[in-house]
Amino acid sequence: MTRRFLFVLGSSRSEGNTELLARRAAEQLPPDVEQQWIDLATHPLPDFEDLRHDTDHARPTIGHTALLFDATLAATDIVIASPLYWYSVSAHVKRYLDHWSGWLRTPGVDFKATMAGRTLWGVTALAHEEFEVADPLVGTLNNSAAYLGMRFGGVLLGNGSKPGDVLKDTEALTRAKTFFEQEAPLARYSYEQLTP
Ligand SMILES: Cc1cc2nc3c(=O)[nH]c(=O)nc-3n(C[C@H](O)[C@H](O)[C@H](O)COP(=O)(O)O)c2cc1C
Repeated sequence: MTRRFLFVLGSSRSEGNTELLARRAAEQLPPDVEQQWIDLATHPLPDFEDLRHDTDHARPTIGHTALLFDATLAATDIVIASPLYWYSVSAHVKRYLDHWSGWLRTPGVDFKATMAGRTLWGVTALAHEEFEVADPLVGTLNNSAAYLGMRFGGVLLGNGSKPGDVLKDTEALTRAKTFFEQEAPLARYSYEQLTP
C-alpha cells in the first residue's frame, strides 16, 4: 500500500510554530509518499454529539466532517500537528479526536479494524523549555493509538512562542530531518510499558 500521510493542523493560527515544524519534517518524506494537509481552523468540525447509546452515527457525507472522515480512512499515517495548549492538544484537535468516537460506531465502517496497524504521529510546539510539560499531550496520542491498535511514532517537539520562533530551535530542526524515518512500534498503554 502506498504510504499516504494526513497532516491535521490544530493550531488556531496559520503558519505557526507547529505547522512550520511539521512542514520541515514533511520535506524529508520521499516523493512517492502522498501528503494531504487539513487545517482544522479553516475546516472547523461541529461540536461532537455523543449518540453512541441512542442511535447509530450516520456516515458523514458533507462538509468538513466528511472531508476529515474520508481523509482519515485514506491515510496510512496520521500526523496530529497540535500546539501545546494548557499542556495538552488544542481544542480543534480534541474535537477531531472526539469525532473518532462517533466514527467507531458508524455502521458499514469498521473504523477500529481500518485504523489498526496504521501509524499515529505528533508534532507540537510549546513555549516551555522543559518538554516534560507536554507529557499529557504525548499520553493522549499514545493511548489513543493503543486503543485503536495503531502504531505510534512519537511526538516531535519544538520550542517557540511567537510564529517563527521554532526555526531558532536547531535541535528540533535536526530531529525533524529524521523524525518520520523512525520505527513506529505498536502503541501500548503507559501502564503496560511500566509493567511489561
Ligand atoms: C491557549 C494557549 C495555551 C497555551 N498553553 C501552553 C502550555 O500549556 N504550555 C506551553 O509551554 N505553552 C503554551 N502555550 C504557548 C504555545 O504552545 C506556543 O505559543 C506555540 O508556539 C503555539 O503554537 P503555534 O505557533 O503552532 O500556534 C499556549 C498558547 C495558547 C494560545
